[in-house]
Amino acid sequence: MEYLLRCIDCNSYYESDYIYTCPRCSGLLEVQFSLNADEIDFSLDGNNLSVWKYRSLLPVRINPISLNEGGTPLYKANYISEVSNCNVYVKHEGMNPSGSFKDRGMTVGVTKAIEIGRKAVACASTGNTSASMAMYAARAGIKAYVLLPAGKVALGKVAQALMHGARVISIKGNFDEALTLVRQVCEEKGFYLLNSVNPFRLEGQKTIAFEIVDALGVPDAVILPVGNAGNISAIYKGFLELRELGLIDEIPRMIGVQAEGANPIFRAFIEGRREIEPIENPETVATAIRIGQPVNAKKALRAIYESEGMAVEVSDTEIVEAQKLLAAKEGIGVEPASAASVAGLIKLSREEELSGERVVCITTGHLLKDPEEVIKVCGKPIEVDADVEAIKKAL
Ligand SMILES: Cc1ncc(COP(=O)(O)O)c(C=O)c1O
Ligand SMILES: [Zn+2]
Repeated sequence: MEYLLRCIDCNSYYESDYIYTCPRCSGLLEVQFSLNADEIDFSLDGNNLSVWKYRSLLPVRINPISLNEGGTPLYKANYISEVSNCNVYVKHEGMNPSGSFKDRGMTVGVTKAIEIGRKAVACASTGNTSASMAMYAARAGIKAYVLLPAGKVALGKVAQALMHGARVISIKGNFDEALTLVRQVCEEKGFYLLNSVNPFRLEGQKTIAFEIVDALGVPDAVILPVGNAGNISAIYKGFLELRELGLIDEIPRMIGVQAEGANPIFRAFIEGRREIEPIENPETVATAIRIGQPVNAKKALRAIYESEGMAVEVSDTEIVEAQKLLAAKEGIGVEPASAASVAGLIKLSREEELSGERVVCITTGHLLKDPEEVIKVCGKPIEVDADVEAIKKAL
């Protein structure tokens, strides 16, 4: 399908695959399709869900660099439904090839890098972006460069980026600083930037919306953690496109959840603002969303306001409680940031902001991403002598 890039700030249009921010005003770009239902070659029949099922709505022209991403499970969550008095489903994005939703964006982003002839990709990351980008760069046979905030990235994610062959550089600074720096490095070295400022990457992530509708229809609300705010913007765009194509009538309320220590979008929302004020020193156990200056804040706030959604903040204690509940009561193992979605749902249901709705919580990353946090909150295994009596005593 034909598309252009549109600047969300100055409304300029570009017919180019070679840019990812507005050459006129440096604003964020988004892919705008000339949507035409006749060009859709999939049906929302619940079968064979995957990112590339929806290729006719993705802005690529070559065969994809793919590792079979998407098609993640949508579990009915009976215990959480009871606790929250809602009809709750969990879409477990931790079941993607690298263990997070980022793969949906990277399969498209790295394909675009190849399509336009780039030999190296780069990103700043709280961990999952780097793991996913390194994996897809390896698959494509190009170089990957990663900037991480030193000491603030979960071990599993660093391990992935290293083993997939990325050049991993930790900086003495936070994610927001790493992002500023990597943008500069990309400009100087000609690397293709794969953070969520890249509108092509976000196109892959909108397939979460397509899969939800494909498997379930349109829920009343979609709840997800928000860090750099790309995913909530992408998913909202996915629903908008389906509505414009006449494939759905309604858009779910988009509900973004932030950690109390990294909550610029929540703060903007409660004050009715469309722009954020940066948080200087963001802090939370959910390192994936430890971000004080989300680049996609404008897109995310638009998604929240236009869908009559909400932003909510949760404490680290609430995040860990929700992570335990998902793991121990539903059998769904997620990393802390992902559990923020369920923590947000529980908080909103206690405050009677939600009741009886059909809700999809998106769990963005797998439990194995952050084993150190697990040991901190669960403790180490009990160690006893290799002896039946000793074991029985420990049972
Ligand atoms: C597990 C997890 N959840 C949520 C997010 C936040 O996504 P976004 O930056 O698109 O808001 C991230 C981003 O790194 C993540 O890794
Ligand atoms: Zn512009």
